[in-house]
Formats: sequence, C-alpha cells, structure tokens
Amino acid sequence: MNTCSPDVGTPIVSGAVSSGEATKPEPVELEKGARIREFRKKFKIADIKAGPDQGLNRLGENLVVRGWVRTLRVQSSVTFIEVNDGSCLSNMQCVISSDAEGYDQVESGLISTGASVWVQGTIVTSQGSKQKVELKVDKLVTVGTSDPSFPIQKKRVSREFLRTKAHLRPRTNTFGAVSRVRNALAYATHKFFQENGFVWLSSPIITASDCEGAGEQFCVTTLVPTSREATDSPVNAIPRTKDGLIDWSQCAMCCQAAPVMVPTPQPKTVPHLDLHNAFGSDIYLHDFFGKPAFLTVSGQLNGETYATALTDVYTFGPTFRAENSNTSRHLAEFWMIEPELAFADLEDDMACATAYLQYVVEYILENCKEDMDFFNTWIEKGIIARLSDVVEKRFVQLSYTDAVELLLKAKTAFEFPVAWGCDLQSEHERYITEVVFGGCPVIIRDYPKDIKAFYMRQNDDGKTVAAMDMLVPRVGELIGGSQREERLEYLEQRLDDMKLNKESYWWYLDLRRYGSVPHAGFGLGFERLVQFATGIDNIRDAIPFPRAPGSAEF
Ligand code: 4AD
Ligand code: MG
Repeated sequence: MNTCSPDVGTPIVSGAVSSGEATKPEPVELEKGARIREFRKKFKIADIKAGPDQGLNRLGENLVVRGWVRTLRVQSSVTFIEVNDGSCLSNMQCVISSDAEGYDQVESGLISTGASVWVQGTIVTSQGSKQKVELKVDKLVTVGTSDPSFPIQKKRVSREFLRTKAHLRPRTNTFGAVSRVRNALAYATHKFFQENGFVWLSSPIITASDCEGAGEQFCVTTLVPTSREATDSPVNAIPRTKDGLIDWSQCAMCCQAAPVMVPTPQPKTVPHLDLHNAFGSDIYLHDFFGKPAFLTVSGQLNGETYATALTDVYTFGPTFRAENSNTSRHLAEFWMIEPELAFADLEDDMACATAYLQYVVEYILENCKEDMDFFNTWIEKGIIARLSDVVEKRFVQLSYTDAVELLLKAKTAFEFPVAWGCDLQSEHERYITEVVFGGCPVIIRDYPKDIKAFYMRQNDDGKTVAAMDMLVPRVGELIGGSQREERLEYLEQRLDDMKLNKESYWWYLDLRRYGSVPHAGFGLGFERLVQFATGIDNIRDAIPFPRAPGSAEF
C-alpha cells in the first residue's frame, strides 16, 4: 500500500543533474515501506509543574502523565499516587477514586512503589499544601509492575547504600536532581564556549603519550586474552616463562586471539613489522598499535595542535587515571573540559577560567531553581548563597610563594608539612580558600617547575612555571592550567631534564617549529564541578556510574 497521499507530498529521489543545464528530477514513488512517525517532544510533568504558576495555568485540562510510582497512600475515599518522570523534582499527585477506570489495579496491589504507570486525568486545584495542582484520575494503566523487593522504598536510604544500586538510584530525588544539574552544566559549558568562538574538538581516548607524565595510565593492549577469556577462563592466555614473567618469544600466539578492543579485522592489520627499530625493543612487536598505548589522562596535547590552527578550541570528554586514590575527590574515569587558547598568556587563561565558572554557575542558579532549592535544603545548607557569591565576587589570585608563606604562618596544624617546593595538599588548598579567603575561589599561580608537567612555560626566574590552579571551597583543586612552553629549545631542554623521550613528542614539538604562538589552557574536572555546584560531598555521587579502585560494577 502506498501510504504517501498527494497532499502531504510524495517522497522524491533526485535524478542526475547534467553539467550546465539542470534536468528536472524524476519523481520516484516509494512503493514499499510505511512512513516514519513524526517526532514530537514528549509531554512531561515539568511541562505542568515547572512553570511560574506551578500548573495553575492548566486547570481543567485533560492530559496524560507517564512515569514511575514513588508512593501510594490509600485512604478511605480516595488513593493518592505520586508519579515522577524525572523531568523535574516534583511528583504529579494523582488522585484516584473507586469510579475511575483501572481502579481495580490499586485494589489488587498491582500499583506499588517502582511500578511504571500511564495516567489520564484532569488538572484540578490541589487540596493539599505541598502542590498547587493535582491530577484527578479518569483512567489508570499499569505499564510495568514492580516486585516488592524494589530496594528504594520511601524510607530514607544512605548514599553509600545507593552506590550499590547505581542502576536504580536515578529514581531518587537526590540523583534525579544531580543528573539534571549535571546536564545543565554540560549544556552551559558548550553554550559558553560556543558563544565565545571556541571550536569543540574530540581528542582521542586511546593515546600513546602521557600528557601529565605522572605514569597513571591504563594500558590498552591486545596482548591479554579477549574479554570473554578474561572473565570466563581461569587460564591466563599470556605465555609465561618458568619464572612467571611474560614470555615475549611466544607473543605471536597472543595475537591469534581476538583483540580486546577491536575484534575485526585481525590480526593481519596489526603492525607486526618495522616496529623493532622504532621502539628499540621487540616487547611491543605484536601489540595492536605496535607501541604502548593507553587511555588518555588529558586531551591537552591534541587540543594544542588544533588551537594552533583554529585559535580557540575546547575538548569535553572522558579521561582516565589509574591512580590508587580512594578519596572523595578522585575517580578513575572522569570527564574533563579542556579549553586551549592561542595568542594567549596566563592572564588570559585565568580570565577565561573565571568567566567560564561564573557563567555555568549563574546558568544553573537561573535554570535549575527547583533542584537548587532541594540541594539548599537537604544537601548543603547555604549553597545558593555560596554560589551566588561565586557569580558576583571577584576571584583572588596569588603566587605559590605567597600561598606557602600564608600556610607557614597559619595557626592550623597540618598533617603534611609545608615548605617551598612541596606540592600543596588538599588540606592546604582548603585552608587557603575556606579560612584565608572566606570561601572565595582562589587561583594560585607560578608553581615550582619541579612539581609541574613538562609543557608549562618557564618563568624568567628559572625556578617557576606559568601554571595556575583554581581552588574552591569543599572541593579544593577544581581547575589546573598553564601557559604552554612555546619556545622549542626550552621545551626540548625540559623533556631532556625530565628524562622524557623527545622522539615520541615529535609532533608536539613540530607545533613549536611551524608558527609557534604563545598559548594557554586549562582542565576542569567535570565531576568536581558537579560536586561544587550541588554540594554532593562524594565524587562517586556526581557521575552516573563511578569507576574507582576496585569498583566497576554496572
Ligand atoms: O590538574 P590536571 O592533572 O591537569 C591536566 O590534566 C592538564 N592537562 C589540564 C590542561 O591544562 N588542559 O587535571 C585537571 C583537572 C583537575 O584540576 C581536577 O579538577 C580534575 O582534572 N581531576 C580529577 N577529577 C576527578 N578524578 C581525578 N582522579 C582527577 N584528576 C584530575
Ligand atoms: Mg592538577
């Protein structure tokens, strides 16, 4: 059957166009295949309740709500079903009496916490004080029942417990709110950079360079067995010598196994040859990339290549660190926003970081009011005032040397001693923002070169580099950035001093050979921003599925 009626237009497949004279395309009717339904934005509870009059403008409207049952209160004459669809914090209170179609499902116990429902009814003024409107139900349909074992019942449950139920925790008020604010922060991030002429760049997730040089990378290799063998087989397929070391002489056999990351085509595409000389060893001879490869710790180096062509770019993607840090501020997999600005120095970098943070914070204060009120009441009292200050106040900057002086004068007893040249610990960072500067974000700049990465621009004193860390209360380091060393000879010297393999940075050094410019950038840990903006104290609650040492469930 031809489902295309003439008044909605017949699908056309364009005919060929000869050079010079355009020929009329031959219309071809698509005899087979039904039309695809038109996409429509789904009507949600937020469309009723998130407006300024909280639904009063819809009084008398008959409409449909779909979502999951939060609670059920059966009273003698009516039953209250609280339905939430995740579009906002508020539930839709659905009031159902015995004459409504489908009421038998309430009586039979089909409707319980966790069940999914379709509810049709009329918006009426609510008798209760908690909401302005409610839905007087005409018809109720159970879409999916919920087993009584549903673990998130009405009683309050700890966030530790919810971490073990990461697949169901988005159905709680807290995780719904965190997800929406996280989403708004991501949207505002793109909005800020796009409005300021930055180009978004996808930096690679698999990389051969260690940007931070801290050796905290996860290796990506096909030398280990397939994921199936790794989980189902007790046998480790990597050949070993009698001493238990990897037997590289047999490594060709490993390559016969399907690679973990890219199963086909293989192994013919694996670069077996010509690698011996490039890497001075045949250890990596049969590995997929022909050289050691890792999950990226930062997209910065790739960002720099595009900044030296497109001027201002930013990355926003996942990064990975294999540091064994079981803290409330560290994840093994986290998202990082890394702008890179060409023709820019450290002052420009700090200005960009400040403007960015103020922009995204202001965005959520304006656009996520209900969720922010929730955090203000339940998660961190006073967070709205704290964030409003961030938007309005000027940030402070001081040198590392001055910061050390402040710490040395402090009356607080720190666990880690302070001396010029040491890396600042979280207790020091928090003392500076929370005690010395009363909760104002602080940028510390010009760190000793020996505690910073190779790419940072050396200052004229020869001892420090043009680095900057932005510290915020509760979280500590939110942003780490620097002006980059754009002088070839300085950069080469630095790589040598740090005993890094200059050859493997050949393409990075090329940027200094061909039209080098002063440039700068920073990295902001997105989950730390979510912590800062919601008051959630553990970073594992700021990302949907946290990855940390010993934890990769879900
Ligand atoms: O200070 P970091 O290591 O800087 C860089 O990676 C630079 N390449 C960034 C750049 O200049 N483009 O990391 C940047 C930020 C930190 O300030 C912190 O917010 C976050 O990334 N971060 C982490 N967040 C969660 N878990 C971890 N393990 C993190 N490590 C760093
Ligand atoms: Mg850092």
